[in-house]
Amino acid sequence: MSFDLVLFGGTGDLVWRKLMPALFQAFRHGTLPAEGRIIGVARDELSDTQYRDLIRQRFEKVDLAKRPSEEEFARFADMLHYLRMDLSQPASYEALAELLTHRNADNVVMYVATAPSLFTTVCEQLAAAGMNKPHVKIVLEKPLGHDLASNRAINESVRQAFSENQIFRIDHYLGKPAVQNLLAMRFGNALFEPLWRRETIANIQITISEELGVEKRGPFYDRTGAMRDMVQNHALQLLCAIGMEPPINSHADAIRDEKLKVLRSLKAWTPTTLSQQVVRGQYAAGTVEGVAVPGYLQEAGIPEDSTTETFVALRTEIANWRWAGVPFYIRTGKRLAGRDAHIEVNFRPTPHEIYQSPQGKVNRLIINLQPKDGLELHLFAQGASNRRQQQALSPVQLDLDFDKRFGADRVGAYERLLLDVIHGRLNLFVRSDEQEEAWRFVEPILEHWKADTTGPRPYAAGSWGPSAASAMIARDGYCWSEES
Ligand code: BG6
Repeated sequence: MSFDLVLFGGTGDLVWRKLMPALFQAFRHGTLPAEGRIIGVARDELSDTQYRDLIRQRFEKVDLAKRPSEEEFARFADMLHYLRMDLSQPASYEALAELLTHRNADNVVMYVATAPSLFTTVCEQLAAAGMNKPHVKIVLEKPLGHDLASNRAINESVRQAFSENQIFRIDHYLGKPAVQNLLAMRFGNALFEPLWRRETIANIQITISEELGVEKRGPFYDRTGAMRDMVQNHALQLLCAIGMEPPINSHADAIRDEKLKVLRSLKAWTPTTLSQQVVRGQYAAGTVEGVAVPGYLQEAGIPEDSTTETFVALRTEIANWRWAGVPFYIRTGKRLAGRDAHIEVNFRPTPHEIYQSPQGKVNRLIINLQPKDGLELHLFAQGASNRRQQQALSPVQLDLDFDKRFGADRVGAYERLLLDVIHGRLNLFVRSDEQEEAWRFVEPILEHWKADTTGPRPYAAGSWGPSAASAMIARDGYCWSEES
């Protein structure tokens, strides 16, 4: 199978940091179809050779499992090409069309890794130049819009040019092996299904914490904030994976229909829940891994009176028969105490206690996404060393480490997603109606914050966020995983 992959934004951060390394890994593992061209597109005046040199230099800085040898890089570089384009000019698209028609590849992928403000223009111009034929796919990076209205406007204009099954909306969390393992755990085994409901589960917590701050993305981040950057997409997609009903098969639309139902079932916000069940925070100066770091307002490109949130914690419910009344907590933030993404499923306690006051937080399943990818089941057992206290229980842990089990060099999120696009597999991509529902869920919160002059709560960099997040969950009688 031959393919042409066009990377709009070909000299941008995403291409350097994620897409090129992922393509290289696929190349190295022999999964990237050999008859392929990768065409970087940007405004800079560059030759193919200069573009290849830039990529080789960038590879020095990224985390590849093993550095490529000269010979290996040279073979990869043969696939790389560069085209200078001004994305507002029809003539540029004609040049692209000519380049593509000349070769007539089986599959053509247009990956729009540019500022979202260019999505509409790029799609319109591709269609005008006849580059929206059925074998052409378009990949759009998040964020798709700033709110429901702008998301709809983008989706509508993209759909004028491409049909839904040609549109690949990326949420890279769906490409993470751990998320696929979560689906495999739920729908490949009968064990969990009878337990996966309100009668047995007390609450579910989704945590995505980062140690990093806003890095060099200050102005972008300040317009975006944690709600749009992480909750509207990654966190809600995790919530769908954990909360959805079993799909009737593994086809893209069967899975996406079930995720959509979850999003539609999220409990509507009220003035009370908006003020009591959502916490926004912003990091102040602090210490991360022993290093003093500045607060958000001191970061480059951030206005000194910014009220953008770098932390969100919220409580929601999926209002259906399976989950009614079970709190789902979401928490995400930058400059927190650790880089950690996991989902914690807390089961209800035993209905009647026959052992002497057991100590420890057990009865829980933890699905680890990063830095570790695996499953932990926390249980009580009778410790062999307890000779005197026959009845005492100790917490123990069943630990399945997928990196150890399957090897750490497994296919990464972008590698998986890029290969899926090239092969036309839509399962791990987000449909427009899912996106719209997710915006419908977060929009009342964003509106509420706009009107609320108190602003975000400060938290010290290197902490677990504002204490109000702990107070929120404590009102239900629970605590976050690190507090147990
Ligand atoms: C991106 C966000 O989508 O996800 C970033 O824009 C965030 O702000 C990143 O850092 C987190 O991804 P990961 O895979 O490192 O958890």
